[in-house]
Amino acid sequence: MTLPRVTLCYAQTLDGRTATASGSSQWISGPESLRFSHGLRASHDAIMVGVGTVLADDPRLTVRLAEGRDPLRVVADSRLRTPPDAAVLRDGAGAGTILAHTGRAPADLRAALEATGATLLDLPDAPGGGVALAALLMALDARGVRSLMVEGGARLITAMLRMRLATHMAVTLAPKILGAGTDAVGDLGIARLGDAYSLADVDITPYGADLVIAGRVVYP
Ligand SMILES: NC(=O)c1ccc[n+]([C@@H]2O[C@H](COP(=O)([O-])OP(=O)(O)OC[C@H]3O[C@@H](n4cnc5c(N)ncnc54)[C@H](OP(=O)(O)O)[C@@H]3O)[C@@H](O)[C@H]2O)c1
Repeated sequence: MTLPRVTLCYAQTLDGRTATASGSSQWISGPESLRFSHGLRASHDAIMVGVGTVLADDPRLTVRLAEGRDPLRVVADSRLRTPPDAAVLRDGAGAGTILAHTGRAPADLRAALEATGATLLDLPDAPGGGVALAALLMALDARGVRSLMVEGGARLITAMLRMRLATHMAVTLAPKILGAGTDAVGDLGIARLGDAYSLADVDITPYGADLVIAGRVVYP
């Protein structure tokens, strides 16, 4: 079984938040690190977010602040909650969009989404709910996706780490403090420091006032 290289990429505050308590995250990072993120998009075959991010931010997931081509866009969306007029379906259609779901949405909703040009990928359920992510990665690999950038949100990032499917991370650390808000990563069931996941081959680069910390994920 081959799986794509999976890079988790998100921006967090000094206190580990990726959004305010009201769900706003645009923009935690500054313009320089945003340009870096767009360059990273261009260097990946595909980019994925969870449907929570589509509903909160309506992102286009295209490359606009750097040179390069748009990656294939993927939304983990088991119940097909992506609105047919979402930017990820409307803008940059040349890149193509896959909605990864679990086959329970009504036929008329499927038809409305397919009419936008999106590809619907019917996958098994994950044990805890959502789309089975290993099956999704295998399906993407079969379509020629060798590198996948996962841009959030927290639930999808956490699931990717919990399933040990993330191979790399590129985290923007912005010099901001929010207090309440969304944790960058949820519970991974780690009780001892010795069981912490870590990064190897770490590269730390300043972009404006932000730092991007990138490396290979090491699971104990
Ligand atoms: N700072 C940043 O870099 C950044 C980046 C992106 C987003 N954000 C912020 O993050 C927030 C959204 O994050 P979120 O955690 O609510 O949503 P999310 O992670 O984007 O999406 C979560 C949803 O994805 C679907 N999903 C399908 N399969 C899944 C699986 N195997 N594991 C996990 N989820 C799966 C589930 O919905 P179904 O059960 O309906 O399938 C789940 O509720 C927003 O406030 C956004 O602004 C911040």
